[in-house]
Amino acid sequence: MAKEILLVLAAVSCLLVGSTAQPAHVVHIVGGSKGWYTPPNTTFYDEWAAKKNFTVGDKLMFLFHSSVYNIMQVTKEDFDKCDDRHVINRWIIGPTFINLTEPGMHYYYDSIGLHCEAGQKLSINVQENKPSVAASGAHVTTPKFVGLLGLFAYLACLLFM
Ligand SMILES: *[C@@H]1O[C@H](CO)[C@@H](O)[C@H](O)[C@H]1NC(C)=O
Ligand SMILES: *[C@@H]1O[C@H](CO)[C@@H](O)[C@H](O)[C@H]1NC(C)=O
Ligand SMILES: *[C@@H]1O[C@H](CO)[C@@H](O)[C@H](O)[C@H]1NC(C)=O
Repeated sequence: MAKEILLVLAAVSCLLVGSTAQPAHVVHIVGGSKGWYTPPNTTFYDEWAAKKNFTVGDKLMFLFHSSVYNIMQVTKEDFDKCDDRHVINRWIIGPTFINLTEPGMHYYYDSIGLHCEAGQKLSINVQENKPSVAASGAHVTTPKFVGLLGLFAYLACLLFM
């Protein structure tokens, strides 16, 4: 019963997000409801990323247990080989939010054990943030859906639908 109520809430939230919100900044939950884990195949995170658009100003949210998993941001060369010669950043405490502040390719993997080799790796292409129509000011017809409720609605949307 509780679960059904949650699903209804999520559905309503999704409708709200879909109809009134053009969130300027999106929080992407990496891997969706699975989070950041060692997936059953090596294409899991490619498949997840292929359905998204990443824009400067967005955030990645990595859901994981500290000390079981971690996140390394590396160069393409290291990413391809699951190597750690050129570590740009590392995060060891889950969950972690990462701000996407630069356009271009971003490479992340989990350096624990053989997690990277097994497919716990994510490469994304972050696009420049194009100025939105609303930013020009003249004809803002739909209210922007901001704040905690908006974030909740968006998360619920991602998690449940
Ligand atoms: C990889 O695993 C995910 C999660 O189980 C699954 O949805 C997806 O279809 C799999 N991809 C391939 C190519 O087997
Ligand atoms: C990503 O961008 C393309 C082109 O602008 C658009 O067609 C598509 O619907 C977008 N996908 C998402 C998930 O926003
Ligand atoms: C990420 O961006 C938020 C504002 O959106 C800011 O409060 C936070 O400090 C930033 N985090 C990092 C690590 O830069």
